Amino acid sequence: MKIQGCLFDMDGVVVDTAKHHYVAWKSLANELAIPFTKSDNDALKDLSRLDRLERILRSGNLEVSSKTKIELMEKKNQLYLQIIDTLGPGDIRPGVKELMLELRNEGVGLCLCSSSKNAASILKSIGVFNLFDGIVDGNNLTLPKPDPEVFIKGSKLLGLTPSVCIVFEDAQSGIEAARSGGFFALGIGAEGSLNNAHANVQDLAHMTLDKLQALVDSHESN
Ligand code: G6P
Ligand code: MG
Repeated sequence: MKIQGCLFDMDGVVVDTAKHHYVAWKSLANELAIPFTKSDNDALKDLSRLDRLERILRSGNLEVSSKTKIELMEKKNQLYLQIIDTLGPGDIRPGVKELMLELRNEGVGLCLCSSSKNAASILKSIGVFNLFDGIVDGNNLTLPKPDPEVFIKGSKLLGLTPSVCIVFEDAQSGIEAARSGGFFALGIGAEGSLNNAHANVQDLAHMTLDKLQALVDSHESN
C-alpha cells in the first residue's frame, strides 16, 4: 500500500497534555475529597471527558446527578483551558511538525482525529492548525474510541479509504479503533506498551515519509 493519508491522534501524539489534564482533574478530585494520583490519571488517559469523570466519582463512591456531572466537567474544563492557554509552539512533540511539513509537500493528506473537544484551540496555540486538511474532534463524534468512527470520518474528510491511511496513536483504545476500521496502526510510545499495533515507534523524532512507507512495506512482506 502506498501511504496517501495520515491520521493523527492529538493528546500524547502531537502534544503532551496528559500532565495538564492531571492538574485539572486532580484539583476537581481534591474538591470532592477523592484521592487521585498521577498513575490513576495515566490509567484514564484513553477515556472521554465523561468517562473519566465517572471513573473518578466511582473510585470515591460518589453518586451525583447528570446535571452535577455536567457542572463538574465544566469546572474541570475551565481550569484545563486556563492551563493550556500557556501552550505554545515549543510544546509540539519532537519531529511532528517537520513530518507534517514533509507529508504535505509530498501530497499526503493530513487529518487530526481526536476525542478532545479542545482540539482546535490547542492546535492553534501550538501553531499547527493550518497544516491539517481536516479535523475531527470530540465535537463531531457520537462514539468514543475504540469505536473507529473518528478515523472513518477522518479518512472520508480526506476522500480516502482506510486501506491507504496510517493512524498515529499513543493509546490502546485508539489502536483498537484504527485496527477495527481497517487502518494501518502505528503505536507511539515505549516498546511493548501498546498491543496490536502494526508497528511501534518511541516518538516521531526524525520520522520521514520514506521511513513510514518502509514500516508499512515490512509489515506487508511478513
Ligand atoms: C483525548 C485524551 C483524553 C481526554 C479526551 C477528552 O481522548 O486522550 O485523555 O480525556 O480527549 O478531552 P477534552 O479536552 O475534551 O476534555
Ligand atoms: Mg492520545
